[in-house]
Amino acid sequence: MTAPLQFELTLNGARCEGEIDSRSLLVDAVRTLGATGARIGCRTGDCGACTIVVDGRLTKSCLVLAASAAGSTVFTIEGSTDPVTTTLQQTFIDHKGFQCGFCTSGMILTAAQALRDKPDLTDDDIRRALSGNLCRCTGYDDIVRAVRAAADRLLEKRGNTAAKA
Ligand code: FES
Ligand code: FES
Repeated sequence: MTAPLQFELTLNGARCEGEIDSRSLLVDAVRTLGATGARIGCRTGDCGACTIVVDGRLTKSCLVLAASAAGSTVFTIEGSTDPVTTTLQQTFIDHKGFQCGFCTSGMILTAAQALRDKPDLTDDDIRRALSGNLCRCTGYDDIVRAVRAAADRLLEKRGNTAAKA
């Protein structure tokens, strides 16, 4: 039996606090706080379903103790409303980049980070960026098409904005 810990973090823009078991994983903590877009798949860091953003870094939240994220700023898919993420959400719908949807939040958050790091991703870059995220439904091609479409759409928008400036 371990002692409960006082816990506080900022989740999707809202300050949250409470008591957690000192052995709790971050994925369990954020889900308990209502952010169920972080999925529990393998719990071993292999599937990427639990991917979230902690202090700006893409994080597999099953590999992190909740206690070690105390005081952090955390975003899950629910609170990720930036243009890159919302464009990806739309292109995943447009290109049928999901079936059951279990992997989708992790895929989108990972792709969003990859697109921020390199806006002109090639298909090989996309496959490499998503290599830590497993999908057992789609065969990946539709996911790659969805990310490709988001990259093209965002580049086009940026081009249009630059042309108007
Ligand atoms: S549940 Fe975290 S990587 Fe699979
Ligand atoms: S859509 Fe089902 S696991 Fe990816």
